[in-house]
Amino acid sequence: MVAGNGLLYPLLGFASCVVFIYISLGDLTLYHFEEPKMAFVERNGTRFMVDGRAFYVNGWNSYWLMDQAVEAFSRPRVKAMLQAGAKMGLTVCRTWAFNDGAYNALQTSPGRFNERVFKALDGVIAEARQHGIRLILSLVNNLQAYGGKTQYVKWAWEEGVALSSSNDSFFFDPSIRSYFKNYVKTILTRRNSLTGIEYRDDPTIFAWELINEPRCMSDPSGDTLQNCRIGLKR
Ligand SMILES: *[C@@H]1O[C@H](CO)[C@@H](O)[C@H](O)[C@H]1NC(C)=O
Ligand SMILES: *[C@@H]1O[C@H](CO)[C@@H](O)[C@H](O)[C@H]1NC(C)=O
Repeated sequence: MVAGNGLLYPLLGFASCVVFIYISLGDLTLYHFEEPKMAFVERNGTRFMVDGRAFYVNGWNSYWLMDQAVEAFSRPRVKAMLQAGAKMGLTVCRTWAFNDGAYNALQTSPGRFNERVFKALDGVIAEARQHGIRLILSLVNNLQAYGGKTQYVKWAWEEGVALSSSNDSFFFDPSIRSYFKNYVKTILTRRNSLTGIEYRDDPTIFAWELINEPRCMSDPSGDTLQNCRIGLKR
């Protein structure tokens, strides 16, 4: 008996430790979606390929997914939309991955993010994958809705950056370019709170769109726009 007890306590200690670890991991995995398998779409010449077969974009635009995912009352619309798209055989949805300074903004000021809204975007991406839908994520608006380039120009003004009053300074002012570059980097390196995958490593994201409907009225040649490359190194 004495010898038995001697063994029992360490065993109990070990067992409770295992149970504890199991519960902790179990807790973590509870928050992980069961992710359907999905490979990155790749390019071969002029063709998109996935899993060794041609991939055809059958797409639609629902700009509002993140916006509607923020509040509980409207969140079910996101699932319903993605479900409807999948049912119709659609494969890619274009949607906003920005809201700069507007109501329920993702970016509240340069480099400051609302975690609640980021979690809404995490949810949109996770939900899309559940339905086998890929996303084109747009990163800023040329137009004023949801902030857009006008909001970036305003932020620069508010921080006392000397720039031309034209909204086109979005395309060439170094301070604004660095705001935007920082924004893009934050999005690409965001680790999805539901799936644990960084956005840049997530095959659900088919493509990135740098800006919605870009127009630089002060340079009709298009050169200013063409020069807006943003180099990001891993
Ligand atoms: C790319 O396409 C070419 C021409 O159709 C084909 O010969 C080649 O095997 C393809 N490569 C891959 C990796 O699928
Ligand atoms: C910038 O855009 C906003 C929104 O369209 C407009 O109200 C404002 O007048 C523009 N600024 C200039 C200098 O054109």
